[in-house]
Amino acid sequence: MLEVTALPLAELRERSSEKWREYPADVLPLFVAETDFPLAPAISTALHRAVESGDTGYVASRTPLASAYAAFARRRFGWSVDPARMRSTADVSMGIVEILRRVTQPGERVVVTPPVYPPFYDLVSEAGAEVQRVPLRDTGTAWELDLDGIRAAFEDGATSILLCNPHNPTGTVHSRDSLVALAEIADEFGAAVVSDEIHAPLVQPGTPFTPFLDAGDAAERVGYAVVSASKAFNLAGLKCALMVTAADATTAVVRGLPIEVEWRTGQFGLLAAVAAFSEESDEWLDGLLRTLDQNRVLLEDLLAARLPEAQYRIPDAGYLAWIDLSGLGWGENPARRILKEAKVALHFGPAFGDEGRGHVRLNFGTSPEIITEAVERIAALVAR
Ligand SMILES: Cc1ncc(COP(=O)(O)O)c(C=O)c1O
Repeated sequence: MLEVTALPLAELRERSSEKWREYPADVLPLFVAETDFPLAPAISTALHRAVESGDTGYVASRTPLASAYAAFARRRFGWSVDPARMRSTADVSMGIVEILRRVTQPGERVVVTPPVYPPFYDLVSEAGAEVQRVPLRDTGTAWELDLDGIRAAFEDGATSILLCNPHNPTGTVHSRDSLVALAEIADEFGAAVVSDEIHAPLVQPGTPFTPFLDAGDAAERVGYAVVSASKAFNLAGLKCALMVTAADATTAVVRGLPIEVEWRTGQFGLLAAVAAFSEESDEWLDGLLRTLDQNRVLLEDLLAARLPEAQYRIPDAGYLAWIDLSGLGWGENPARRILKEAKVALHFGPAFGDEGRGHVRLNFGTSPEIITEAVERIAALVAR
């Protein structure tokens, strides 16, 4: 079993990415979705080789990326997807915007399901559309899609939905039944479903994951998936994502995008993604999932012991924890006080939508020491 362990703090502080440069060195950064692990060996090898041979030109028009993803999807999700129905672009955000531009008319409404990854609001407006909020339903023990609310939004004229599967920030893996039902509702109204599946490689074993396009015939007809290796393998700066479809009409939409959308794919991103999706990286990804599993449980234990006011449900996927701190009485945006006084940077809950008041999002894609230190610092602030 390969053990995937986060780098020591001193080494992480040498990094120059957003996570390590946004705040001064006395702040522990657990905000943006970057992880603190070394690269998977196959990715390091591919990137070193490219650097050594100066292989830094444009991405080729024929690459192994689509077939590498198809093989990955089959191995990891049991999903058969046709490499001929995929196109690459720079990142998931760009894929979402370009698809939304094509499937909506200016001013049309796109459903989003808050609390949700904050840029979703901006991506919808960048595409010229407007946001219609249909919050996730909180059952008391989990979150789920509000299918009645989504149906009502379509009845009221919304023409598409931007789905987050698995969901950021709650880490919810939507059930197969809910995705099948969503697809059928969308199909009934001729609405498009754009499914952001960037966190899919990070679904924990034991939780069944359904790629949206694999949720029945209606899903194939209405769906577009945007996928990437970038969250699981920490490749966000390298710029590579895939737009995936499963029916002729949706494939034609993606094929109809300007060639420039594909030219924006990063060469390093593509080389790294091919290595990430290869069988050679499976053991590393399994090791990462084990580490994240330990971290999500460690966080629960720490919060129970040191911050009992915090409400936290263990996520099914990913390395993001959605924590309700309203019990502390620190107002709508507790992350502000935590940053200023405890020197821990968390993502601001209200940025995810009104449902995020009193919440923070904590990135546990790091070492047990850093997670422990972060919770200790916040607990010390409570004790003051
Ligand atoms: C759900 C979700 N979508 C998209 C992104 C951003 O992806 P990209 O950098 O490929 O645009 C993130 C980043 O954290 C995310 O969590």
